[in-house]
Amino acid sequence: MTGSEISERAVSYWNSSPKQAKALVRPRSTEEVQAALKICHDFGQSVITQGGMTGCVEGADSSPENVILSLERMTQIEDIDEIGGTATVQAGTVLQTFQETVQERGLYFPLDLGARGSCTIGGNAATNAGGINVIRYGMMRNLILGLEAILADGTIVSSMNHMLKNNTGYDLKQLFIGSEGTLGVITKVVVKLERQPASRVTAMTALPDFAHVTKFLGHCQKELGGMLTAFEVMWGDHYRAVTEPGWNKSPMDRSHEFYVLVECEGLDSDADSERFETVMASALEKEIIQDAVLPKSEKERRELWEVRENFEAVLQNDPALLYDVSLPIRNMSAYVEEVQQGLKKQWPQSACYVLGHIGDGNLHLFIAPNSMDADLHGRSDELVYGPLAQYGGSVSAEHGIGTEKKKWLKHSRSEVEVEIMKSVKRTFDPKGILNPGVIFDLAQ
Ligand code: LAC
Ligand code: ZN
Repeated sequence: MTGSEISERAVSYWNSSPKQAKALVRPRSTEEVQAALKICHDFGQSVITQGGMTGCVEGADSSPENVILSLERMTQIEDIDEIGGTATVQAGTVLQTFQETVQERGLYFPLDLGARGSCTIGGNAATNAGGINVIRYGMMRNLILGLEAILADGTIVSSMNHMLKNNTGYDLKQLFIGSEGTLGVITKVVVKLERQPASRVTAMTALPDFAHVTKFLGHCQKELGGMLTAFEVMWGDHYRAVTEPGWNKSPMDRSHEFYVLVECEGLDSDADSERFETVMASALEKEIIQDAVLPKSEKERRELWEVRENFEAVLQNDPALLYDVSLPIRNMSAYVEEVQQGLKKQWPQSACYVLGHIGDGNLHLFIAPNSMDADLHGRSDELVYGPLAQYGGSVSAEHGIGTEKKKWLKHSRSEVEVEIMKSVKRTFDPKGILNPGVIFDLAQ
């Protein structure tokens, strides 16, 4: 594609401006990706690899001088091994399509995130996606057994391992996972599958303060053990914003300080429901939680999840700056208070909406400065990342660095680490044509 065919498309989920690029190529196979890259490599042409365009850090945004390589035509699920519990999937496959396909065979792919209907398996791999089930199943990195990637010069790196155990030298696939398209183009992956769980039980709960949230986490971990798959927290202000009339339906009183959406997967529908209800009842009795709503149908369960996953209401603020930090759970409350105080001082009209996968130590903040000041983004970054260092936190828990956060990479990685990253980049892509300027700039 060239010209208006490209500009009819949006930059990304987050940015509706017209996409810009010299050309957009849509290969159908590994060989076509190889051919496209070889040509670009010969001409020193920069290439931006694109998947579902739901990434949060402008890591796949293109400019007029780039060629876009879109994996949208590589959507085959090539193989499902029901005995070994693995699948081979092409990079352009939409996560939800893959989830539903394996589900029809009684299998389960546990990576899950709000963008499931648009994001692709290749993008999930390239960014090491996290999401809502990490507390039990880990991130994408933990779910991939093998992959195929094409280097900048067209060399095919076939690392299509299907086994859990394979200790034959460096684990090269892990280099590509989370490299945000800077080291190669991932064309297919071999993933590990679970058996479809027989039961899934869920509750939305309300709590008075953060100390009770951590107590509740401990309670769930102790009483539900390995069944616990999601523990999603929303600060009261976030909950109220996303359940304003006209947005998500609130299943309970909207005036609580904290809300936690908790979910378990197990093997026995009746016994698991009973156990889950007992555990929620004991949390109420012990006054760890103030209220709990348990869905009575899959529709009601989806409605609870909508409250957590649909934050369109918050995005009405312009700008609403999204952050993705991680830090030890015990420091979260103090950290959030510090950020909020800093914000109020800087912009009295500002709003700060906080939520997160806190079992993983991961917080998301939406910051709405509600101000006409210059450099809102830069100043907001200072307020969010500044207090993080003292807690040993990371500037990105799951969204990655992209182009948006590269200035802050050094906050979370030592100089030696960044230098090693750069030398890996130079080895894999000496001409620097793949996603240039993503994660770091080579020249600096
Ligand atoms: C989420 C995205 C923002 O957790 O990571 O909803
Ligand atoms: Zn998240």
